[in-house]
Amino acid sequence: MSGKGDYDIAVIAGDGIGPEVVQEGLKILQVASEITGFNYDIKEYPFGSEHYLATNELLPDEAFEEIKGMDAVYLGAIGDPRCEPGLVEHGIISKIRFGFDLYINLRPIKAYADNLVPLKGKTADDIDFIVVRENTEDLYTNLGGIFKRGTEHEVAMAQMIFTRHGVERAIRYAFELAKKRNKGKRVTLVDKANAIRSMDIWTRVFQEVGEEYPDIEKDHAYVDACCMWMIKDPEFFDVIVTNNIFGDIVTDLGAMLQGGMGVAASGNLHPGKVSMFEPIHGSAPKYKGQNKANPIAAMVAVAMMLDYLGETKAANLIESSVQQSLQNGQIPDLSASSGMSTNQIGDIISDAIVQMK
Ligand code: IPM
Ligand code: MG
Repeated sequence: MSGKGDYDIAVIAGDGIGPEVVQEGLKILQVASEITGFNYDIKEYPFGSEHYLATNELLPDEAFEEIKGMDAVYLGAIGDPRCEPGLVEHGIISKIRFGFDLYINLRPIKAYADNLVPLKGKTADDIDFIVVRENTEDLYTNLGGIFKRGTEHEVAMAQMIFTRHGVERAIRYAFELAKKRNKGKRVTLVDKANAIRSMDIWTRVFQEVGEEYPDIEKDHAYVDACCMWMIKDPEFFDVIVTNNIFGDIVTDLGAMLQGGMGVAASGNLHPGKVSMFEPIHGSAPKYKGQNKANPIAAMVAVAMMLDYLGETKAANLIESSVQQSLQNGQIPDLSASSGMSTNQIGDIISDAIVQMK
């Protein structure tokens, strides 16, 4: 798909290191637009924990409606220890994911350089798969609650919800993606149907939808075994499809295979509609304002956004520049203790984009 060339992008930099890494993402967005020739307008929104603490406002309906009419949302990170756990995350991230029906959370697990791979005997070539995480159901619906709170008879309940519609569209997306990638031509369903018997809905729908894709291999792993295989034989995987909570968990493990949280990015998608792009890392409050956080994940999120919008050339340019800068040692590693500052890394990638064009 080629893009329409002119985009409205909502920016929610959020909490902690969010604003610092987003600034570098916006830096390379600008460089890429100048080089490849697309236009965009950004509107920055102040939402996040600081804003909540000052105003009691999370993501007001008016802004929600305005953003709905844009092309994409670029999000930094949300989370602050001064707020009740999950409150701001739910009010902003979940409101966007659920409210815009962003039913796919796409999380590439790709290592850009050999030295980033922590596994003995594995190289960057061995780490290249993608997780399709269902993004609008499961435990994240927060159906359930607490009864007799604070008493010795307290009961807490959380419902794992799967609908035929939700499961089917995630699985179909995964098969289409395996076809498009044309790499391992394999989709691995990850579930826990041996213990959570209602997950049988995933098994059946996977079988049914899979019949429409005779050229794609249908594979299966229980989530615990999947964690084991991700360490033992990561090169085996091509596309993984899984439910919301397991997808959340296995992609943090996946991020470590790529070299750490500083490099892993994601897209929350509803194909054809406004979608949201973010690094998968959190707000890392202890690094806030120190100019130490690695902005690569936030930059790769920009590349994913551009790819989604149809600006393939710009997306590839950013990704290749990141890869090259990591491979040639200009950016030696991704740890916060590497001595490189957030904006220094941003400048290195911007220069690499200019030189590569
Ligand atoms: C993620 C995050 C979120 C999630 C949190 C911040 C609610 O961990 O995007 O992976 O659990 O989805
Ligand atoms: Mg997570």
